[in-house]
Amino acid sequence: MEKTLVLIKPDAVSSKQVGKIISVYEENQLTIESIKILIPDDDILSRHYQEHINKDFYPDLIEFMKSGRIIAMVLSSEDAIEKVRRINGKTNPVDAEMGSIRKTFGTNVTMNAVHGSANPIDARREIEIWFN
Ligand code: GTP
Ligand code: MG
Repeated sequence: MEKTLVLIKPDAVSSKQVGKIISVYEENQLTIESIKILIPDDDILSRHYQEHINKDFYPDLIEFMKSGRIIAMVLSSEDAIEKVRRINGKTNPVDAEMGSIRKTFGTNVTMNAVHGSANPIDARREIEIWFN
């Protein structure tokens, strides 16, 4: 079984889409191993988004991610990392596939409803950051 870190971002929590989004993962045979709700601080977010620290969108991204409560989850299944990224859809909801979470629940490239780890090294690192 593979594990991945999923975040339901502040836009989707404040618009009360948490239950629907979790249902999509469960309908796709992903198991919730851990779950919590929190407003993340700068320390967590700078570690989580370390690869983006020098990007021009980074300040807006951090401000958005601190703007409200986030659901953090560890999900597991066979091939969980790729499965979640397929279910989430492309980063920008405009480009995301029909039926994907970002197409259904996302608003724009910043307010895009969910995060999923990109690869096994990131999954391990991100699970440590959010669930140490
Ligand atoms: P995550 O699962 O959230 O990591 O998405 P991803 O792997 O598809 O995207 P990436 O890791 O490249 O970017 C992380 C987050 O930064 C995205 O989910 C977006 O919210 C934001 N982001 C990425 N690229 C851009 C961009 O070009 N402009 C803006 N404004 N935000 C971006
Ligand atoms: Mg990413």
